[in-house]
Amino acid sequence: MSVGANLVFALPRVPLGRSQGSPLQRRTQTTENCYKKDDSLEKPVHDFRFLLQTMTEQGGKFLVLGRTDVGKSTLLQNFVRLVTAHKKSVAVLDADLGQSTHGLPTTLNLIRFSPDTEPPEPECVARIFVGATSPVGHLLPTLVGCRRLLDRAQQLGIPVTLIDTTGLVEGPLAVEFKLHKIDLLQPTHLLALARAHELDPLLRACARRADLHICRLPVATAVRERSAEERRANRQEKYQRYFTNLVRHRLRLDRVGIWGRVPQRVDRNLAGLLIGLNDEQGFCLGVGLLQNRTSDTIEVLTPLVTVKEVKLLRFGSVALDRDGTEHLVSPREW
Ligand SMILES: Nc1ncnc2c1ncn2[C@@H]1O[C@H](COP(=O)(O)OP(=O)(O)O)[C@@H](O)[C@H]1O
Ligand SMILES: [Mg+2]
Repeated sequence: MSVGANLVFALPRVPLGRSQGSPLQRRTQTTENCYKKDDSLEKPVHDFRFLLQTMTEQGGKFLVLGRTDVGKSTLLQNFVRLVTAHKKSVAVLDADLGQSTHGLPTTLNLIRFSPDTEPPEPECVARIFVGATSPVGHLLPTLVGCRRLLDRAQQLGIPVTLIDTTGLVEGPLAVEFKLHKIDLLQPTHLLALARAHELDPLLRACARRADLHICRLPVATAVRERSAEERRANRQEKYQRYFTNLVRHRLRLDRVGIWGRVPQRVDRNLAGLLIGLNDEQGFCLGVGLLQNRTSDTIEVLTPLVTVKEVKLLRFGSVALDRDGTEHLVSPREW
């Protein structure tokens, strides 16, 4: 068995048993039939083999929930190894705009892993540009983008989709957003990585959904928390790696559709604004950096060698300096 498998099964026990249960767990025990349908809500599961078996035998859509740095992405990467080791294809819908495992920050990515290579090679089959590093303020494009990528996974006939998410799980906005995401994506399973009670409002809301299995999973004690600075540095490195070997293109505004708003001029704040260079279906072919704008053209730097297929532009809310330092730019400033 692979290293990944050991990591999954070696997750340590955390004290969330009956005696020390959260309010949710206590309610589970005292309210008749309340969470009867899904016993896994009562305590975290420590043996993930049943989940792996479900993935390999039935397939499904598995959405991971949890704060930042609880091991969501690592868990899904381990499942990728295990499922492909069973000769099944698996897709990861990487919806973490800020700390994407597989894609450029500000984008949502659908990654396919086929069982034919060892280790399984990630193949980006579709990408959506949101243009921000957090869903806050961009809830609709994030949700719609996720749904479009999931539809693509289903069109491709990939039997298992693992949905990675941001750590936005606490507070009224986060709960509202995640519940709508669940409604829209209709996962078959929620993989809930919680240290204490932080997911209770979400899980309580989902507990009676007939179509949803909730699996409470323990957070490994070895999980490492990253500072905001480390996260920013991680994004900067990804931008630097992506924006190399750039080509300058001039796009005529009467030959492309503008999906949203377009800045009227490019001042110092807007130089380096991220632009989604999208195909005729709105999928992102590449990301560009705004350089200049005239009355009928925009000039952009991008790794794309050709922009022949670019039909729709979407302007983001993040601008980059030459070294990949981010500046948040509100469209209100345009
Ligand atoms: N089971 C584990 N054992 C040891 N380290 C882990 C484990 N899961 C995650 N980590 C480490 O903890 C950090 C955060 O994990 P990550 O999966 O990125 O969290 P999240 O996706 O929830 O933000 C990473 O450095 C990762 O390597
Ligand atoms: Mg993650």
